[in-house]
Amino acid sequence: MIIYFTGTGNSLTTARILAGSLDDEAFHINEAVDMDPSQEKIIGLVYPCYYNDMPNAVKDFVKKFKFNKTTYIFGILTHGGDPGNSIHTFQALLAEKGLDLSYGNDILMPVNSRIMYGRVTTDIQIRVKNQKKIVKRFTSDVSSRRKNSTGFKKKMVPAIMSNLSNSSLGKRLVMKKVDSDRCIQCGTCVKVCSLKNIKIKKDKVLIGKSCTDCLACMHWCPKAAIGFGRRNVKREQQYHHPNVKLKDIILQEQQ
Ligand SMILES: Cc1cc2nc3c(=O)[nH]c(=O)nc-3n(C[C@H](O)[C@H](O)[C@H](O)COP(=O)(O)O)c2cc1C
Repeated sequence: MIIYFTGTGNSLTTARILAGSLDDEAFHINEAVDMDPSQEKIIGLVYPCYYNDMPNAVKDFVKKFKFNKTTYIFGILTHGGDPGNSIHTFQALLAEKGLDLSYGNDILMPVNSRIMYGRVTTDIQIRVKNQKKIVKRFTSDVSSRRKNSTGFKKKMVPAIMSNLSNSSLGKRLVMKKVDSDRCIQCGTCVKVCSLKNIKIKKDKVLIGKSCTDCLACMHWCPKAAIGFGRRNVKREQQYHHPNVKLKDIILQEQQ
């Protein structure tokens, strides 16, 4: 069983490649959370790095999900160059439940947070091209039930950075805003928000407080009407994995 969380498809496609080559299935955390994994021989969690750490929505999932003690559990992180403590957090959350992370690894993918941090500096094509080859390596490790401890150790600087980002000031700096001149109330943002944190009321898009910062609303908006703080997003700054379509991001329950 492969479980994923995604905003722009890097983790979704990684999960799908893994599932395909392991003859398994990939489920979004919202679909997986109530499933019974007791018969699963392996469980893999694929997720993006946010602020040097695991996304808060994924942490909540790990806390809730009923992992089985005898299952081979592995984590695969997709990131833009700085994985920080993301794998460590998975291992630490499992340890709190008396479970082991058997294997962890990470893959460099296109950065989808560039609106916050400035212009595009990464080569999307190269990273996407390398993805299959790298994921096949993970498949081979998982198939042979390889164990490792890559990224398990907590690093202090990334821990400070993620604490700052999760502080109320950090949250305020990246608060989403909707440009009402561009917004056509099409509802795409509502559908791609897997936390159901966006609503349209009286022709206005309202973004709630339980955002996990996946940026799906911003990247998938057909009018590029969702931005950060004072920053508007430009169309050319929007990103999604080239093999992913809008319908792949919208969960059945959101359709
Ligand atoms: C809010 C936010 C914070 C991010 N922080 C980091 C980071 O600290 N280090 C890093 O390497 N990449 C960071 N990224 C980039 C993503 O981890 C990367 O692009 C990931 O593959 C996106 O996965 P997805 O397409 O499945 O959503 C961040 C992305 C977002 C949206």
